[in-house]
Amino acid sequence: MELAGAVAIVTGGGSGIGRATALLLAERKAWVVVAGRSSGALEEAVVLIESRGGHGIALPTDVRDSASVQRLVQAVLARFGRIDIVVNSAGVAVAKSLKDMTEEEWDSVVETNLKGVFLCSKAVLPTMIAAGRGVIINVSSVLGRAGIANYGAYCASKFGVIGLTEAMAAECHAAGIRTYAVCPGPTFTALHRRLVGELSAQRSMPPERVAERIVGLVTHGSPEGSSVTVVVDEQAPAMSCGQTGRSWRQRVKRWLLAAIRFARGPSKRR
Ligand SMILES: NC(=O)c1ccc[n+]([C@@H]2O[C@H](COP(=O)([O-])OP(=O)(O)OC[C@H]3O[C@@H](n4cnc5c(N)ncnc54)[C@H](OP(=O)(O)O)[C@@H]3O)[C@@H](O)[C@H]2O)c1
Repeated sequence: MELAGAVAIVTGGGSGIGRATALLLAERKAWVVVAGRSSGALEEAVVLIESRGGHGIALPTDVRDSASVQRLVQAVLARFGRIDIVVNSAGVAVAKSLKDMTEEEWDSVVETNLKGVFLCSKAVLPTMIAAGRGVIINVSSVLGRAGIANYGAYCASKFGVIGLTEAMAAECHAAGIRTYAVCPGPTFTALHRRLVGELSAQRSMPPERVAERIVGLVTHGSPEGSSVTVVVDEQAPAMSCGQTGRSWRQRVKRWLLAAIRFARGPSKRR
């Protein structure tokens, strides 16, 4: 897809992977709408976009709330008359064992990470279907392919994002819409720092790396097809699209646990 003049919505665009993606899309001359709850973070992202010569708009949105998502989409359509790209990057994580996790914590993770993707995608599908084109990129995680202890809600939500993306692809491919689930490994963002601590920088990649892959999918698609799951992880054992076998999952699990122990530092390593 040609990015010059395209209209993109990036949820979670105020920080981390979403912000890096918004910046790169704007650098390539797309109009970028950043959506998230904190208007301060969104405004900062827009200032950064504009300081690099791009065009950005901040629209505060809660992806868990269908009325809020509808307002976002209506505002973008009123302004531009089209939506070409949606990157669903908004996400939260809670690291707790299932026995300690509260129902509210479970709901907040699943509603943001999974229902949020559903609501944002559903809201843009009518206009994309009418246009006969569009790209939807849903940010899952390597934890959407391998469950690990203390991340039950997060893993469930991210596995769900992959299933939802595959279902979306089956429904929407014929209408000219490309859909991808992107599964980053550990990425140096606020979310990762909150979970793993400042040492997380040692075993994580910059968000710009994930952004490059996302924008590459928008512009050039994937050699594996127009609707696939793509792992973006520099440190993991060799992985490619469509590998879902048990041995692959075990390797990822072992690697993730080692990475988390390493990032937590010597005192917490066992
Ligand atoms: N960092 C990693 O290691 C890693 C690895 C794999 C996958 N991921 C995924 O990558 C995505 C981006 O995360 P990140 O690492 O870039 O962390 P981040 O910097 O914390 O970004 C998360 C963004 O989501 C937004 N958000 C949270 N709840 C929201 C809601 N209800 N409505 C709208 N926006 C909401 C946040 O903004 P507000 O709080 O202002 O709303 C924030 O901008 C997430 O889906 C995450 O699960 C991250």
